[in-house]
Amino acid sequence: MSNSERVPVELCKGVNGLDKVVLREVRGSSAEVYLYGGHVTSWKNEHGEELLFVSSKAIFKPPKPIRGGIPICFPQFSNHGPLEPHGFARNRFWSIDTDPPPFPTTSSSKAFVDLILKPSEEDLKIWPHSFEFRLRVTLGPGGDLMLTSRIRNTSTDGKPFSFTFAYHTYFSVSDISEVRVEGLETLDYLDNLQNKERFTEQGDAITFESEVDKIYLSTPTKIAILDHEKKRTFVIRKDGLPDAVVWNPWDKKAKAMADFGDDEYKHMLCVETAAVEKQITLKPVGSLILRGSSRAAKNPILGSKSCTGALLQHVVGA
Ligand code: BG6
Repeated sequence: MSNSERVPVELCKGVNGLDKVVLREVRGSSAEVYLYGGHVTSWKNEHGEELLFVSSKAIFKPPKPIRGGIPICFPQFSNHGPLEPHGFARNRFWSIDTDPPPFPTTSSSKAFVDLILKPSEEDLKIWPHSFEFRLRVTLGPGGDLMLTSRIRNTSTDGKPFSFTFAYHTYFSVSDISEVRVEGLETLDYLDNLQNKERFTEQGDAITFESEVDKIYLSTPTKIAILDHEKKRTFVIRKDGLPDAVVWNPWDKKAKAMADFGDDEYKHMLCVETAAVEKQITLKPVGSLILRGSSRAAKNPILGSKSCTGALLQHVVGA
């Protein structure tokens, strides 16, 4: 390995000359983050195996969001509101945050990057709320990938704002019909394929044999994706994000998407850590206090919000 390849953080050019940051961990794992969308497009383990799915037809060109990896859905999840689907954060240019506020806990990893998104004048016309969205992407010592979002309401009008959110992670799987998700069985979900109607999941584990687009509610902090063929388990841990969206477009919808291969649905599964059913409400920084008691409230109004999505990858035996 050459010296330049060992650098833990490197800013370089990606597809179509777009800026990307490459993170490298000493044992060989890596990740790539495009400033366009604040979008993680690659996460490789120490054997160089790609763990995220990115479509071979992905268009790395604004205003189209990148199909695959980890789009950030903010300030709106999907079509749950008046904005463009999944909000605008995924097709804006983020900046490198050179002076991020300190984190309460420090990681020993040197392979991390801090990005920031602030609304432009145009953004304020479609969503009239000032904010600072800070995203830290860290590649941990064992090759774990961790995304932490810190969002602040910076408006001067004294008004709170509300939003929905998702880390829309596309996992790479060997064969969707051999994959199982654990941690969501018996939970309630809203079915996007049936007018967002509420149902309760039946059966022991979640498996796939047709299109699925469900928002599981009040999910546990740990969810697992078991890929038997690859002998791989993804473990997703989350904090501050109660919901989990499970999506696979299957064959018909796959064919209808211009930036997605006809058969690619077989090799991907989205499990998205999210806040959809209940919006997150943020009061402006510096205005009145709602600390301790806000935690017990049903729809707490917070001063700032931090949502963590850690993707821990394990290899299991046969
Ligand atoms: C999922 C939604 O999160 O994203 C689906 O639940 C949607 O309804 C999918 O089809 C992909 O969305 P987009 O906008 O990236 O094509």
